[in-house]
Amino acid sequence: MRQDTAMVLNNSHGIIAHCIFLERNMILPIYTYGNPVLRKEAQDIDASYPELQTLIANMYETLKESDGIGLAAPQIGLDIRLVIIDLDVLSEDLPEYKDYRHAFINPYILEYDEDSKKETMEEGCLSLPGIHESVTRPTRIHVKYLDENFQEHDEWVEGYLARVMQHEFDHLGGKMFIDRISPMRRQLIRGKLKNLLLGKFRCAYRTRLPRK
Ligand code: NI
Repeated sequence: MRQDTAMVLNNSHGIIAHCIFLERNMILPIYTYGNPVLRKEAQDIDASYPELQTLIANMYETLKESDGIGLAAPQIGLDIRLVIIDLDVLSEDLPEYKDYRHAFINPYILEYDEDSKKETMEEGCLSLPGIHESVTRPTRIHVKYLDENFQEHDEWVEGYLARVMQHEFDHLGGKMFIDRISPMRRQLIRGKLKNLLLGKFRCAYRTRLPRK
């Protein structure tokens, strides 16, 4: 059994059925810093993954509820390569992202455009409530992924989307943005990270703390 909310059954045919996400539009708790799933290497999935469309719908619902712009499956406790990004909320300032909502299955960053300028921006993460730090990343990346219809895409991405993809795809490799800040900044947020482990934080969405 994976977690008490996510029962995994292995039936006699060897088919694994995840018995979570059977209800539509379920808001899922966000796994916060310290949950081991956030540090695991996530696995590729295929079209036979059970209830995938419902899972994606639930992730959109969860993202909306928490006012986020991206959510990776490990953040809801699943170690699979699945990410959703919703940039529509930014479209007042960035009109090119009007209605931009996409799911990314088995995404990978193939290369970083090392000639593109690097940019430093403040990032936050639903799994790290209350922590915002400057992160420097390349502005242009080459990615491949499957969309929610399992169509293959291979493209160069830039700008804000490239930033969000790098943040979200990092989650699939067990990385968080705090791994990409300076050792000095990391030292300065040690107390905040400790408080996250202890559940001493406030946020407006449902979370799941690591087990003691
Ligand atoms: Ni994040």
